[in-house]
Amino acid sequence: MPLVTTKDMFEKSMKEHFAIGAFNVNNMEIIQAIVDAAAEENSPIVLQASSSAIKYARIGYLRRMVEAALEEHDIPVVLHLDHGPDFETCKLCIDNGFSSVMIDGSKYDFEKNIALTKKVVEYAHNKGVVVEAELGKLAGVEDEVNVSASDAIYTDPEQAKEFVERTKCDSLAIAIGTSHGAYKFKGEAKLRFDILEKIKEKLPKTPIVLHGASTVIPELVNMCNKYGGNIPGAKGVPDEMLHEASLRGVSKINVDTDLRLAMTGAIRKVFAEEPEVFDPRKYMLPARELICKTVQHKIRDVFCSSNKA
Ligand code: G3H
Ligand code: 13P
Ligand code: ZN
Repeated sequence: MPLVTTKDMFEKSMKEHFAIGAFNVNNMEIIQAIVDAAAEENSPIVLQASSSAIKYARIGYLRRMVEAALEEHDIPVVLHLDHGPDFETCKLCIDNGFSSVMIDGSKYDFEKNIALTKKVVEYAHNKGVVVEAELGKLAGVEDEVNVSASDAIYTDPEQAKEFVERTKCDSLAIAIGTSHGAYKFKGEAKLRFDILEKIKEKLPKTPIVLHGASTVIPELVNMCNKYGGNIPGAKGVPDEMLHEASLRGVSKINVDTDLRLAMTGAIRKVFAEEPEVFDPRKYMLPARELICKTVQHKIRDVFCSSNKA
């Protein structure tokens, strides 16, 4: 099956109350692990690359590795730019065959965010590519933009409606209390489901996206720490909350940190237990397997997109 856009899978997700997992990719093993997990679950999937991932892996490699995955499996796969920082990066991805881009204008004021998003939407739609935009600020680090926790601004439902109507973006990333990275909450995890509900009331047909949605799986953090890592006090969004979000109208759930933890934990284990190993396949294989298992758990047990391909 060729690359698809998010259009059909988002429609299905809104009708049938499940979410599509969107996982960040940086290299071959990560791509293989995610697509293998999705194929095993017969689930649609979004593979997303940030601008720093594109700098690291190079756009041609990413595109062609995803093409290779498509040759192996017959499930709907989206190749998406995550947190596009400007028009030029979105254009680069559209021109290189991505089927979806995010323009992240959340660092700008409302009017500038609208103007930038509209420009990307116009270019993308002409080429059959869909656009995710963002309104509201997540606490934490968004690519190169730092937003301090005290600056975090939840998405305003009324503004969200105006934003979507004026920009004609295809989906909207909102801020309801999540943040990027491994340190999301100091005390109890809390998401503003009341804001999500109001946004869905105003925009019942717009697919909603949740960023910063890693669980920061305790077993993976422990594994990293047990084998020489130092990630104390890490905390993410519990599975139950993500499941609730998927039932309450979130169509796309973004995960990167949990994959980083899985890869690092698996590699650290081999390094610690088998110091004589220096064949990269001996530690990249368990890393790929643990990412695959992690993705499969999310798809099947949390986002409930199994058999929705
Ligand atoms: O939201 C950010 C993603 O985790 C990507 O992070 O810019 O380090 O690739 P990155
Ligand atoms: P996490 O850091 O919670 O995995 O969020 C990833 C993300 O939002 C990518 O856009
Ligand atoms: Zn994000």
